[in-house]
Amino acid sequence: LAGCGGEQANDANNGQTPATAGDKLVFGSDTSYAPFEFSGADGKLTGFDVELIAAINEAVGTNIEIISYDFKGLVPALETASIDGAISAMTITEDRLKKVDFSMPYYLSGQSVAVQAKNETIKGFDDLEGKKIGVQTGTTGEIEANKVPNANIISYDTMDGGFMDLNNGAIDAIICDFPVVAYYINQGNDGIKIVGDMQTSEHYGIAVPKQKPEVLEAVNEGLRILKENGKYAELYKKWFGV
Ligand code: ARG
Repeated sequence: LAGCGGEQANDANNGQTPATAGDKLVFGSDTSYAPFEFSGADGKLTGFDVELIAAINEAVGTNIEIISYDFKGLVPALETASIDGAISAMTITEDRLKKVDFSMPYYLSGQSVAVQAKNETIKGFDDLEGKKIGVQTGTTGEIEANKVPNANIISYDTMDGGFMDLNNGAIDAIICDFPVVAYYINQGNDGIKIVGDMQTSEHYGIAVPKQKPEVLEAVNEGLRILKENGKYAELYKKWFGV
């Protein structure tokens, strides 16, 4: 009940503790998506989304735990409330909003096209016609790839497969969230490059089952606090350097 378990309340929260305080909440995530969710050098989950959830837990006293999940399985699992939420660099789309609720937007992203660094013919989205394009199954990148005439679309369960195949030349390009490709290149993978402008503008949200408004409320309250108290800015700077 709202107001119970007040030991977690803090000032920024006006002393109100969300209904979900203390209960363990299980959130799904495809944890092969650096810098948002991935296994760090110590094998522990880390990334912007992972630290954002930890900060929300701290701010509002929720007990959210992240478990690894197939990306394409997240929305179906949310629809049946088999999980309490999902944080997975997931874009808020009209289509998904019919099936799940989303928190306030927490990250502005967009699709980018990447090719081998030595490729001199594909300079952007418009040059993809008839090409072999790698995407992650069930993503907005896949939706963009479907708009390309005569494309040979290769769908991967995780983006790792797409990066691998692009590196070894099995595919011509990938369409993937810009910050993910940029981070990958920054890690020393200079065999690939981003070409052209960002193809879309997309907002990530934390997804919650429509049956669990109390979880949505807690997550939004957490995001509000973190945006107010500077913690969100701190995490953003840590992971994206600005
Ligand atoms: N932003 C894209 C989407 O929502 C891709 C997200 C993929 N996330 C992941 N953790 N693999 O469709």
